[in-house]
Amino acid sequence: MELGFVGLGRMGMNMVRRLQRDKHRVVVYDRSPEVVKEAVQEQAVASTALKDMVAKLTPPRAVWVMVPAGEPTEGTIRELAGLLQADDVIIDGGNSYYKDDARRAEELKPKRLHYIDAGTSGGIWGLKIGYCLMIGGDEAIFKRLEPIFKTLAPENGYAYMGSAGAGHYVKMIHNGIEYGMMQAYAEGFELMSKSSFKLNLPRIADLWMHGSVVRSWLLELAASALHNDPKLEKIKGYVEDSGEGRWTVFDAIEKDVPAAVLTASLYTRFRSRQAESFADKMLAALRNAFGGHAVKKA
Ligand SMILES: NC(=O)c1ccc[n+]([C@@H]2O[C@H](COP(=O)([O-])OP(=O)(O)OC[C@H]3O[C@@H](n4cnc5c(N)ncnc54)[C@H](OP(=O)(O)O)[C@@H]3O)[C@@H](O)[C@H]2O)c1
Repeated sequence: MELGFVGLGRMGMNMVRRLQRDKHRVVVYDRSPEVVKEAVQEQAVASTALKDMVAKLTPPRAVWVMVPAGEPTEGTIRELAGLLQADDVIIDGGNSYYKDDARRAEELKPKRLHYIDAGTSGGIWGLKIGYCLMIGGDEAIFKRLEPIFKTLAPENGYAYMGSAGAGHYVKMIHNGIEYGMMQAYAEGFELMSKSSFKLNLPRIADLWMHGSVVRSWLLELAASALHNDPKLEKIKGYVEDSGEGRWTVFDAIEKDVPAAVLTASLYTRFRSRQAESFADKMLAALRNAFGGHAVKKA
């Protein structure tokens, strides 16, 4: 098939490589010309602007957007909407908020443009393993784009989820679960790191990959990290989040669902960024005030 591709970052570049290896014609655009040159070495067709990219595609066109969620994605889609023609498709493969998808699909309807939200999982390993794709939008358009999904995904690794937003909704929950699973491993391994048994953590991570109930790809990654740096001395315990965990918690609040583990996992990330918290000082001050318990001076 033929595809326009915007955003050649950690995800986009490898996705283009996978598409090229399966002989799709991919016209690429990125605001950094150097990465466009890199994609051309993989046989992609270069473009110098979105307008140029659109001109190099045959109607009905399909353009995959793989840039950060929020304004970068919003602005790219806005510009594309002004350049594309009726029956063309815009695919958002980034981690957009699912409520933005429904709005965008409606906004694009008067121009008779189609919109597909493709929740994409696989990170930097996707080139080798393939990307798990959770797809929302019009089912007929999903079917039209299936050769692209088939190339990007591993076997049985893509599926239609429902109307606009369903793909990103499922991806959001996927990432919420990911936060919880990672937190559970992190706490278990911290306990073992403090055990008087002097446990070999990389060995345990490896062992658990063989027949244990908690074996998983995240555990494989944990094993690899622990083999490289058994006490994790080379990195700081500072953990960012990129939105989906927060949106999962908003969803739990909207639905009155007690998503305790997912919420605690997000808050633990916030906590990881605080060197000295106001709340901890407040606790120390209160204990001192009511019980005379000693405080440490700053
Ligand atoms: N990394 C993951 O594991 C992962 C997994 C699933 C989904 N995602 C999602 O996939 C999308 C891309 O992620 P990534 O990890 O590939 O990000 P990335 O490595 O930061 O790459 C982002 C790309 O978007 C471009 N870009 C940034 N701001 C832009 C703007 N305002 N206008 C146009 N282009 C802009 C960047 O160009 P420059 O290089 O010039 O900055 C770069 O080519 C995001 O929505 C992310 O949440 C990521």
